[in-house]
Amino acid sequence: MAVRIAVLGDSNQDFVMRAERMPRPGETLVGSDLQLVPGGKGANQAVTAARVGAEVTFIGSVGDDLMGPRLLANLEREGIDTSFATTDPQAHSGSAFIALLPSGENSILHCMGANLEVSPEQVEGAREAIERADILLVQLGVPPETVLRGMELAEEAGTSVLFDPAPVRGDLDPMWPHTTVACPNESEAEVITGRPVTDLREACAAARWFREHSVEVAIVKLGARGAMVLDDDGARIVRGYVVDVVDTTGAGDAFAGALGTRLAEGAPVEEALAFANAAGAMAAARFGAQPSLPTRDEVEALMAEQKSEDRVQGL
Ligand code: RIB
Repeated sequence: MAVRIAVLGDSNQDFVMRAERMPRPGETLVGSDLQLVPGGKGANQAVTAARVGAEVTFIGSVGDDLMGPRLLANLEREGIDTSFATTDPQAHSGSAFIALLPSGENSILHCMGANLEVSPEQVEGAREAIERADILLVQLGVPPETVLRGMELAEEAGTSVLFDPAPVRGDLDPMWPHTTVACPNESEAEVITGRPVTDLREACAAARWFREHSVEVAIVKLGARGAMVLDDDGARIVRGYVVDVVDTTGAGDAFAGALGTRLAEGAPVEEALAFANAAGAMAAARFGAQPSLPTRDEVEALMAEQKSEDRVQGL
C-alpha cells in the first residue's frame, strides 16, 4: 500500500529564461528561450512524492488568475489530492522569475502572491489530511506561522515532520522542537546556525546545532557531493550520483519529496538518503522544476547504474 504524504507549501508559475550571466544593477541584459513551467517548492515536493509512489495531499493556495487553475490541474494530473488547496480571489498566483545560466545554476526572484494567504486556519481545515499522513513535508514558501501550525497539528497526530527550511525567513526557533527531520542545504544551514558551513567538519557542527535544537535527524544537503546526516547513530555522509547538470531548479525539492517518501516507507535513513540523492541528481540533469522530477523507476535505474559499496561513509 502506498504511504500517505501531506505537503504544506507553495505552488508557483516559474518563468524561466536563459542568460549568459546575471545582469548588473541598472543593466538590461537580453535573455532567451522563455518557458513557463509549473514549480514552487511545496508543489515540486508533492509531485516528486507522487511520482515515486506516495499518495499525496497538497495544502496550499493559488490565485484566481490565468495561472492558478493550471497549477492545480497540473497537480491533479499527477494524482495529487488538491481538495485542501484554495483559490484566493484577491491574490495573484505565486510566480518565480528564474534566470538559468549555462552552468545549470540559477537565480530566482520569487513573488509569493497567494502562497502568503495560506493561513493557520486553512491548515486547521486540513487537519484530517495531516492526521492520516505518515509524514508532513513543509518548507518556507508559505507564512512561517502557518508552517508552525501545520507542525503542531502533525505532532498532535503523531505524524512525522520533514522540514526543508527554504527560503530561510521568519523566526524558526519555535519550529525545531516539532521537526523530526531537517534538511537544509549548506547556505541555509549557515544562515540558520549563524556559523560558516564550507566543509564537512562545519556541516557536522551545523548538524549538531540542529540536534541541540531538538531535531531528531539532522541532514545537511551537500549538492552533487550528496548529504550528511547526524542522528542517534552518529554522523555519516551518503555520497551523491554523477550526472551532467542541465538545470538545478527543483533538485532540492526532488531530494525532499523522495526522502520523505522513503522514510515514510520505513527505509533506513542511509537508504532513504541514497534514494533522495539520486532523485535530486536526476532533477538536476533535466530542464525545469516539475518537468524534471523523476519517477521511481528512473531513480532506481540511476541507483542500479551507479551502484557503489562505499556510498555511505562514517564521519
Ligand atoms: O526550489 C525550486 C523552486 O523555487 C522553483 O520551482 C521556484 O518556484 C522557486 O520557488
